Amino acid sequence: SVEAASVAGIAAELAPRKAPAPVPAPPLAVLLELTHRCPLSCPYCSNPLQLVGMREELATADWLRVLDQAAELGVLQVHYSGGEPTLRKDLPELLRHARALGLYCNLITSGVGVTRERLQELQQAGLDHLQLSIQDSQAAGADRIAGYAGSHERKLALARWCGELDLPLTLNAVVHRHNAERVAQMIELALDLGAGRLEVAHTQYYGWGLSNRAALMPTRAQLDAVTAVVEDARQRLRGRLTIDYVTPDYYARRPKACMGGWAQRFVNITPDGKVLPCHAAETLTELRFDSVRERSLGDIWRDSDAFVRYRGTDWMPEPCRGCERREIDWGGCRCQALALSGRADTLDPVCEKSPDHARVRALAEAESAAPAPEFVYRRLRTTGAKAATD
Ligand code: SF4
Ligand code: FES
Repeated sequence: SVEAASVAGIAAELAPRKAPAPVPAPPLAVLLELTHRCPLSCPYCSNPLQLVGMREELATADWLRVLDQAAELGVLQVHYSGGEPTLRKDLPELLRHARALGLYCNLITSGVGVTRERLQELQQAGLDHLQLSIQDSQAAGADRIAGYAGSHERKLALARWCGELDLPLTLNAVVHRHNAERVAQMIELALDLGAGRLEVAHTQYYGWGLSNRAALMPTRAQLDAVTAVVEDARQRLRGRLTIDYVTPDYYARRPKACMGGWAQRFVNITPDGKVLPCHAAETLTELRFDSVRERSLGDIWRDSDAFVRYRGTDWMPEPCRGCERREIDWGGCRCQALALSGRADTLDPVCEKSPDHARVRALAEAESAAPAPEFVYRRLRTTGAKAATD
């Protein structure tokens, strides 16, 4: 009929010229950086150099709304992080809300300042799992890295309380040139503390970690020794302790699939509400980052500039575009490409197909062979209180 033809004509006029972009699957996890305040000052921190002050932090109502929107979007896990997330007085309320929404709640904490009563309160509010950082197997080395006397003892106490309260515990040990020789002892410590999982992670050079790269970079021999210790322990402790191992980028031949692929599995929200595809994304200054103060999490995930720009494979240059690993590593890390090759839209120089690969390897070798410079300790609102490393 005429009417049907008209409708078809109008529909044809309205039809987009290009096929609409596919709706991305929801992220698996959202990481809430509740605050950048932290009692520790670790020089390997991946937080940005320009930290967010307390007065700029989102209010409780904002975070509650974000949790609602995360559940609506289909997120499964919430990671409460920072800075030190337990400094937020509203943490129990945020846990209770997430629990009521059916979200799995993980706390990523330095452990300093958390009493047994507070831990119990968090567990009752809905905490499912706790991830505790350790800086070394020995107090002296650990406290020097953390920039906080007595931090190691407090961490051990918290880990033991997790055991007493039956709260699943993962330990995170960041490895670098100052503690690489004690990875075996850190594994023993994880066993002793009853952790179910240990993450042995070589330092990732972002934020403060990038500023301290020369002070932290291990030698190739240190890396090989750590790898051997971890591989042996994985065999020996199968069924007792799961060990995840994060290898160091600068000595690798292929890049990691950073964040499981840009804007594919993960969302990071800064203390002041900016929504990022990864913790270091703000270094990509050409991108615009939307805030949960102005847009919903779902809208941002689906179509904000920062998320769309490097999602999938359309943005890729050669040789990534024709590479068989393009949907395995998704071209590696955009932030690292920018930091080391000067462009975010080029391939990660960790890849040996990059023209910058050999230079990055040589840089790691030279930095690790030279005497370690002093640490630039992480500090809120400064770019570098210094302290001696030795
Ligand atoms: Fe990954 Fe690109 Fe290297 Fe292939 S060329 S391995 S996709 S970074
Ligand atoms: Fe930003 Fe890897 S840290 S993409």
